Parts: sequence; C-alpha cells; structure tokens
Amino acid sequence: MKNLAVFCSGFGSNLQAIITAVKKKKIKANISLVVCDRVDAFALVRAKKAGINIYVSEPENFKDKLSYERGIVRVLKKHKIDFIILAGFMRILSAYFIRQYKNKIVNIHPALLPSFKGKAAIKDALDYGVKITGVTVHFVDEKIDAGPIILQRAIAVRDDDREDTLAKRVHKLEHTLYPQTIEYLVRNKILLKGRKVRVNK
Ligand code: GAR
Repeated sequence: MKNLAVFCSGFGSNLQAIITAVKKKKIKANISLVVCDRVDAFALVRAKKAGINIYVSEPENFKDKLSYERGIVRVLKKHKIDFIILAGFMRILSAYFIRQYKNKIVNIHPALLPSFKGKAAIKDALDYGVKITGVTVHFVDEKIDAGPIILQRAIAVRDDDREDTLAKRVHKLEHTLYPQTIEYLVRNKILLKGRKVRVNK
C-alpha cells in the first residue's frame, strides 16, 4: 500500500475527508504522516484523533527555507512517503522540495485554475463576479497553482452568494473530489504527459 503524507495549515476539513475515505477503504493507502506548519492548527486535533503520526514544524524556527524544507524531507523519507497531498497547506514549496517528489505532489485549489490563483480564491472569484467557479486538483510544480490539472468540477455562483455561502458549497465539492482523485492516484490511474493528464477510471 502507498504511504501518504497530508500537509495542512488550518482547519483540516480536507484532511478529515481523506481520513474518512481511508477508514471506509474507499482509498486503499496509509496516511502515514500529517505535516503541519502551525502548532495551533485544528487539523492536528483531527490527526491525533485518528492516531496519525504528526510532524509540526514552524518555519520561524529555522534559519532559512532550505533548512526548513530539509527537515520535512528527512521525515518524509523516514516514513517512506510515496505521495504528498497538500490540503490547505498555505506555504509555497521551493524547487528543491518539488524535485525530491517530482509528480508525486498534488494540491487542491478552491477555484477553476488558472483563474483565481493564490490564498483567497473563493473571495476573489466572488468579487470578480464570475457565474461559475469550482474546484481544481492539480500536480504541484515550481510555479504557483500552475501544475498540470488532474480533475476539475464546476459550481454555479448564485446572485445572493456571500463568501461563506459559496465557500460552503466549494468545500463540500472538495471533500468528494479530493478523496476520489487520491484514490485514482494510489491506484496508478493518473497518467501525465507534458501538461496533459489522463485519468483511466
Ligand atoms: C481548502 O478550501 C483548500 O482548497 C484551500 O484551503 C482550504 C483548506 O481547508 N487551499 C488553497 O486556497 C490553496 N491555495 P481545510 O483546512 O478545511 O481543508
């Protein structure tokens, strides 16, 4: 079975969806590690409750980004991690880190990339006035929110949507789309050719 490391920074609702999918054997893999960059993240409560190994590492405690990331890589190697699942990890990984796990890192983004990259995608989409937004799961490469797209799902924006109402529907979609993508990933169903991704369901 493949070993997953899930990276989080905050609430961890996507982590929870992945934990549940693993428990229900919808994803046949081990969540070997949760990596978190904040000691107070609620994601840690979820990981502890599920009995998952935790590695908390705050960048402020390191002299630079490279030594911070080297620390993470050391732990990933120790746990023989096959895939890295970024689930609300609000930090940009360097080219060094990405090289260590080339095409083995995936991310979920709460908008239809390449629109609304960055940390405030739901608000940005709403403020822009788009009628359709959604969720993207993509491979992570050196550029921000720009790696090859694996799966996307769209949702309609309603005239009376506020950030919280739209976020609720976006998150609900994430919680099914991400576990589904991870299931394809661990079964080797995702084929990457240049920027093009084919999913052999
Ligand atoms: C999710 O909506 C995820 O798409 C987003 O952070 C949230 C984390 O929620 N990620 C990004 O915006 C990345 N640019 P969670 O901690 O409850 O899973």
